[in-house]
Amino acid sequence: MTEKTREFMHSDIVRKDMAQLRLEPNLKGYEGLRETFKWADADKLVEWFPGGKINSAYNVIDRHALGERKDKIALIYDDGEGDAQKYTFKQLYEETNRFANVLGRLGVKRQDRVFVFLQRTLEQYVSFLGAIKAGAIASPMFPAFGPDAIKDRLLDSGAVAIVTDSELVKRVYTVKDQLPDLKHIIVAGDANADAGEIDYRAEMASASDRFEAVPMDPEEFQFMLYTSGTTGKPKGVVHAHKGIVQQTLSTRWVLDVHEEDIFWCTADLGWVTGVVYGCLGPWSCGATQVGLGGRFDPERWYRSIQDHRISIWYTAPTAVRMLMAKGDDLPAKHDLTCLRALYSVGEPLNPEGVRWALEVFDNKPFHDTWWQTETGSILITNFPEMPIKPGSMGKALPGIYAAVVDEDGNELPQGEEGSLVIRPGWPSMMRQIWKNEPKFNEYLRDGWYYTGDTAKIDEDGYFWYVGRADDVIKTSGERVGPFEVESALIEHEAIVEAGVIGKPDQLRGSIIKAFIVLTPGYKESDELKKDIQKFVKSRLAGHAYPREIDFVETLPKTRSGKIMRRLLRAKELGLPTGDTSTLEG
Ligand code: WTA
Repeated sequence: MTEKTREFMHSDIVRKDMAQLRLEPNLKGYEGLRETFKWADADKLVEWFPGGKINSAYNVIDRHALGERKDKIALIYDDGEGDAQKYTFKQLYEETNRFANVLGRLGVKRQDRVFVFLQRTLEQYVSFLGAIKAGAIASPMFPAFGPDAIKDRLLDSGAVAIVTDSELVKRVYTVKDQLPDLKHIIVAGDANADAGEIDYRAEMASASDRFEAVPMDPEEFQFMLYTSGTTGKPKGVVHAHKGIVQQTLSTRWVLDVHEEDIFWCTADLGWVTGVVYGCLGPWSCGATQVGLGGRFDPERWYRSIQDHRISIWYTAPTAVRMLMAKGDDLPAKHDLTCLRALYSVGEPLNPEGVRWALEVFDNKPFHDTWWQTETGSILITNFPEMPIKPGSMGKALPGIYAAVVDEDGNELPQGEEGSLVIRPGWPSMMRQIWKNEPKFNEYLRDGWYYTGDTAKIDEDGYFWYVGRADDVIKTSGERVGPFEVESALIEHEAIVEAGVIGKPDQLRGSIIKAFIVLTPGYKESDELKKDIQKFVKSRLAGHAYPREIDFVETLPKTRSGKIMRRLLRAKELGLPTGDTSTLEG
């Protein structure tokens, strides 16, 4: 180990010695900026076409490829098996141009929905950005999704095209006849021409590498992502091209990307973190990014940091806890001094995680960041120049007004718990829930955007996460709706009814727990539990199955027949049951 640097001093609060920081932070003078910053100031971080038009993908790739960064490495793609390939901005420009031309040849039109259902590969980035460049709405889909999850998303969005591979395509086929709008299945790999599949590689090889990014109205859509709420099927959160302004600014201010940085975001492109900070933001800032294929593996993660000389690392608390559990010998065997700044998102980051990082990563702490699929970029964070209070999410970005309010939308005094809300209208805010205005309107009340989280603010203006105000489950940082799991469960022949909750878990934040009423004639058994788990995994997603199952006689319901998950949770955790006046019977 090298001698520890003295950038950070730690008591209860992690303080920073600005003179010792390796690079001067991009954001300086937070308190002053809170007073003076206007969103119009950020518009100059991106390039605009004549008439106030814009294209997010042009800003992410083309402007660098057509300028001084053309030969700079944009992507170091490591397949996870030790093979790393490097691509310059110019190469990504040509590839995304080719893909935009492929879509044009197929007749895909402006704002058509194009899904990307791929493992982390070069093609995943290229098809996502190429679709945006062509004016389509790109929608990445997590590769662990099963047929039910795929059908819900493609059907609701009316997707016309999907880019996938020869393995994942099998899952698409199981639901294809229920998707009348899906015209094009583009396969990166061995495409089956007889089945009407389009061969990605062949099409790309014959497509031109020239394409002019389509000038879009800033309010037209760049991407959409399905996410879970308390009730109903997953909802399509839609983001406008204008969002790239804030996605760029937050990458500069929060993740502190500088020209020489090598940036690694561990999230899959199927989640919003992967889209915004594993693709759009860092490239818009002209940074080199690492994309690592394969599954989570501590050894490989440390080796990647060392071998690719990663300086900024953005990951999630579950990963941090898993690395902590693996012990400190493994990181000690690697040279991790290249790291300059660490960030985390998705769930509460334990103070121990922050402190552990100081020990293991040459005195670098994790900076917690808070945001949501709907917010389109980081809104609350521990900035590089600020002292970190371990366990706190930090402060709101200049330009963002966040507050904690009571049930009537009145701001609460410091220290009191309430709903975390934001003043709507920031550039990267979602523009709609796809074809579901009532759902969109549920977020907005009393002049606030309701996040669904509860929080409190301390005497120094730091935000502290308390919990969810609704039933949304975060398991290993991934967002799961109880209704989706319940819907998958009741498709199993042995199940009449199911209620699903999140149960706190040391490692995963929460695990999914199901309470099940069996169909008469079925008996509880461990084999049946396993069979049910397998069933949900194969239909919904590898991560969205109940790790715990209890068989029960009945489920608590309201008089109108809604399962009261609140009561299931209270009983499971030994909490007071609260108001039960709406309980049935
Ligand atoms: C939770 C992920 C505590 C929160 C970018 C939020 C967090 C939901 C944090 C959004 C954090 C996110 N501390 N909780 N720093 N960041 N969350 O849409 O409940 O997958 O509402 O977006 O994750 O999850 P989503």
